[in-house]
Amino acid sequence: MTTLETRQINPEVDAIRHHYEVSNDFYRLILGPAMMYSGGYWYEGEDLREAHDEAQYRKLDAFIEAAGAVGAKKVLDIGSGWGTMLTQAVDKHGVQKAVGVTLSRSQKEYVDSLGNDKVEIKVESWEDHRTDEPYDAAFCVNALEHFVLSSLTPKERVNRFRAFFNQCHSLIKPGGRLVLHMMTIESPRITRQLIDDLKFLQREEFEGCYIPHTNELVQSFEGKFEIIELRNERETFSRACRAWLENLAERRPEAVGMVGEEVVQRFERYLDIFAYTLEDKVFNNFRIVLHRNA
Ligand SMILES: C[S@@+](CC[C@H](N)C(=O)[O-])C[C@H]1O[C@@H](n2cnc3c(N)ncnc32)[C@H](O)[C@@H]1O
Repeated sequence: MTTLETRQINPEVDAIRHHYEVSNDFYRLILGPAMMYSGGYWYEGEDLREAHDEAQYRKLDAFIEAAGAVGAKKVLDIGSGWGTMLTQAVDKHGVQKAVGVTLSRSQKEYVDSLGNDKVEIKVESWEDHRTDEPYDAAFCVNALEHFVLSSLTPKERVNRFRAFFNQCHSLIKPGGRLVLHMMTIESPRITRQLIDDLKFLQREEFEGCYIPHTNELVQSFEGKFEIIELRNERETFSRACRAWLENLAERRPEAVGMVGEEVVQRFERYLDIFAYTLEDKVFNNFRIVLHRNA
């Protein structure tokens, strides 16, 4: 079991909380009312910030439809952030019950404060989640990047990804779908700047976080899930990072008042790194729709 209440025991949990328990108000300043922390679907020519929330809801609608989850009895969001996927699923798409798992206590507090009784958030790690009745569908939106430590050997990493997909297989009913948004890495042209930036991401912002090659990911769900759709949607995430940077720039003094100069500088740097590495095709951001085999 991942022990969630003992800060000193689990460095993986600490690393996630270091990033996600900064302050809900600070995240709202950056992410806007949609409180989505992943890419959105902008139409050509739309203004990044003006259309930000609409783009995020459009993405959620598309994911819910791709998961075949419209009108579903029960869905799961693994790494559920501030719960927007879950709220959208029950409020707009007739889902009867939506469950999210996150390691962040402040994210749970935020979702609980919305008072939606069809949405339930559990502060637990994905591997500890259990359900009496399997889910009709599940989502994992830009969270899987956190689930496998970069310090593991290549074989251990594939085993860990495999453990994730085995767990999803046991949680979703046969024929149900798992929809992912997931970054993978290409073989980039190495520059000193890129090395410095990747080190910063690894050591200071997302400690131990691992972004795999696409084949590492694909081999880990073989036999358990079948690919229905695979689309590289880099721009969805790079645009979101650019929009969040603009939000932060516009209200910087307020942000510094909330969390301090050092945290603001960290966010400015990491958002810029993700924006440019996606634009430069160092990273991919795949939308992957999987069908659970019997
Ligand atoms: C980048 S956020 C994405 C949130 C949300 N899916 C969205 O698109 O807005 C990653 C999420 O993964 C969660 N997370 C990280 N490690 C986790 C773990 N081991 N088990 C469950 N959730 C985890 C974090 O708490 C956070 O909510």
